[in-house]
Amino acid sequence: MSLRLGDTAPNFKAVTTEGEIDFHEYLGNGWGILFSHPADFTPVCTTELGKTALLQEEFAKRNVKVLAVSIDPIDKHFAWRKDIDETQHCSVGFPIIADEDRNVATLYDMIHPNASATATVRSLFVIGPDKTVKLMITYPASTGRNFNEVLRVVDSLQLTANYSVATPADWKEGEDVIVVPAVSTEDAIKKFPKGVKVIKPYLRYTPQPDK
Ligand code: BEZ
Repeated sequence: MSLRLGDTAPNFKAVTTEGEIDFHEYLGNGWGILFSHPADFTPVCTTELGKTALLQEEFAKRNVKVLAVSIDPIDKHFAWRKDIDETQHCSVGFPIIADEDRNVATLYDMIHPNASATATVRSLFVIGPDKTVKLMITYPASTGRNFNEVLRVVDSLQLTANYSVATPADWKEGEDVIVVPAVSTEDAIKKFPKGVKVIKPYLRYTPQPDK
């Protein structure tokens, strides 16, 4: 059965460009992003891994470790990584998993047979410090991901993990957030000393509480 939000992210051991890893041990107490690619030496994937490398500091600031998955062998990964560094002007320092036996692809349901019988789609999983799946996004092979959106959803997940708030459409770090329905307006006023703006009884905004 495929993974769902809230499920424990399956653990695995894998060979990667940064050595052998145990996934859960590698994540430690931080957040993780596991994302798959159709194949090495493909153009869209090359730009995606380059963009991820260029955003490494942003991921580190959020205590997120990033891992890429492709079903190609490790030697091919090493050769491809050189090309990524050269063409995308970056230095890929995160692990690229060599998932030759498709163990990770199977555990995370990354092969969608009606899209391709063999290649992984562009799956992306955000995993919380409790090792549960917090977010899943799936793109087809032909569409590269927006990694600024990935950072934005991590910001939302980290904020909403700590406060009784949700983030509205197109929210960005620093903007007002929504008080969750489970909190009464009376309690919200006590919880959020920066103020609560009531638009409707069910639609209440407050300034981002950790800013
Ligand atoms: C790519 O990563 O460039 C790609 C892979 C498979 C199909 C189309 C594009």
